[in-house]
Amino acid sequence: MKIAILPGDGIGTEIVAEAVKVLNVLDLKFEMETADVGGVAYDKHGHPLPEATLKLAKEADAVLFGAVGDWKYDKLERQFRPEQAILGLRKNLGLFANFRPAICYEQLTHASSLKPELVSGLDILIIRELTGDIYFGQPRGRRTAPDGNFPGAEEAFDTMRYTRPEIERIAHVAFQAARKRGKKVTSVDKANVLETFQFWKDVVTEVGQQYPNVKLDHMYVDNAAMQLVKQPKSFDVMVTGNMFGDILSDAAAMLTGSIGMLPSASLNASNQGLYEPSHGSAPDIAGKGIANPLALPQPAPSRRPHRVRGEGRAVPGPADGGHLLRRHTESRHPRNGRRGRGCHYQEDHQGLASSGSSRPPRLQTSRGNTGSN
Ligand SMILES: NC(=O)c1ccc[n+]([C@@H]2O[C@H](COP(=O)([O-])OP(=O)(O)OC[C@H]3O[C@@H](n4cnc5c(N)ncnc54)[C@H](O)[C@@H]3O)[C@@H](O)[C@H]2O)c1
Repeated sequence: MKIAILPGDGIGTEIVAEAVKVLNVLDLKFEMETADVGGVAYDKHGHPLPEATLKLAKEADAVLFGAVGDWKYDKLERQFRPEQAILGLRKNLGLFANFRPAICYEQLTHASSLKPELVSGLDILIIRELTGDIYFGQPRGRRTAPDGNFPGAEEAFDTMRYTRPEIERIAHVAFQAARKRGKKVTSVDKANVLETFQFWKDVVTEVGQQYPNVKLDHMYVDNAAMQLVKQPKSFDVMVTGNMFGDILSDAAAMLTGSIGMLPSASLNASNQGLYEPSHGSAPDIAGKGIANPLALPQPAPSRRPHRVRGEGRAVPGPADGGHLLRRHTESRHPRNGRRGRGCHYQEDHQGLASSGSSRPPRLQTSRGNTGSN
C-alpha cells in the first residue's frame, strides 16, 4: 500500500510527524512518499496544490493530510490560498463521502461544553456529501441584480444543486455504515424550503427501501442543530449535504470536548481515502510542540477498514482513540502516585480552564515522564 504524506502548514507538520512514527512502529510495510501542500507549496512552487503533489495523491492508496493555512496568505488571490488545496484534492480525487465521527471519550466528558450525562458514551457518525451542493454548484459569481428586492444593485450568488446519482451514492454509504452500527440513519435536509433538499429527501427515502433493517428518519437542519446539543446521543448515523454537514460536524465536534482528538476520512468510489484531523493548522500554537496529535494516529492505523460500496481497495479505518487516551491518562504521577486526568495539550488546558481548574495537568507517560508521546 502506498501512502501520500502531505503535512502542509503550521501544526500539520507536527501532527503528521507523530502519525508517521505510529505507522513506522506498526511496521506494516507501507510505502510512504511526502509532498508539499498548502502555503508551503505556494511558497516553494507557486501553487498550493502543485501538479506533482496531485499526481502523488492520485497514485496513492491513501493520503495522510495534516492541515493547511496561515493568516499570512489571507491576502492572496483565492485560487492561490492554501485552503484551495483541500478543495482541489476533494474534487480531483472524487472524495465524495466524508466520515466525521464524534466520539466523547470518558476521559474528556468534563471538557465538553455539555453536561457529562448528555455526552458520556457519545458515539455518532456524521456522513457529509463532499463534492456537490452550493460549494461546487455553478453558476456563481457577482453581477448586477436582474430582479429581486433590489434590481440593478450589486449582488453575489451561488447555486445549490444535487443530481440523483450524487444523493444515491452518499445515501448508500450512510445506510451501509448504519448497518454496522446502531442501524439508524437520520437524513438532514431543509425540504420545507429548498427544492434541492425535497429532492434529497425523496431520493434518500427511495434508497432506504433497500435497507429494511435500518431505521430512517428525516430532520430539518435547524431542528438537527438543536437536537445535537439537546440530546446528541439520540443520533447514530447522520447523513446530509455539503454545507449542512460542514456546520453540523463542527458543532458535533465540540460536544466531544477536544478538537485535537477528532479524525476525518474522505473516500471516493474506489475506496481511496484522505485522512486528516478535523482542525486547521492552528498558527497560534505552531512550533510550540503543544499541538494534540491524536486525531491523526486514529485514522492512520488500520483497525476497521471502511469500504464505500463493498468493493475496491480496503482503506485504513479509525483506531481506538480511547485506548490512546487511556494509555496516557491512566498512568500514575511519579511523585504522588495519582492517576492523570487529561492531556497536556493546549486545547485541554482550555477545556479545563473553562471547567474551573486553575492549573493544566501534565501528561504522564507510562514511564512517568512528561512529554507528548
Ligand atoms: N483542513 C484544513 O487544513 C483546515 C481546516 C480548518 C482551518 N484551516 C486553516 O487553519 C488556519 C487556522 O484556522 P483556525 O484558527 O480558524 O482553526 P484551527 O482549527 O486551526 O484552530 C482553532 C483553535 O483550536 C486550537 N487547535 C486546533 N488544533 C489543535 C490541536 N491539535 N491541539 C491543540 N489545539 C488545537 C488552535 O490552537 C486554535 O486555538 C486558517 O488558515 C484556516 O483557513 C485549515
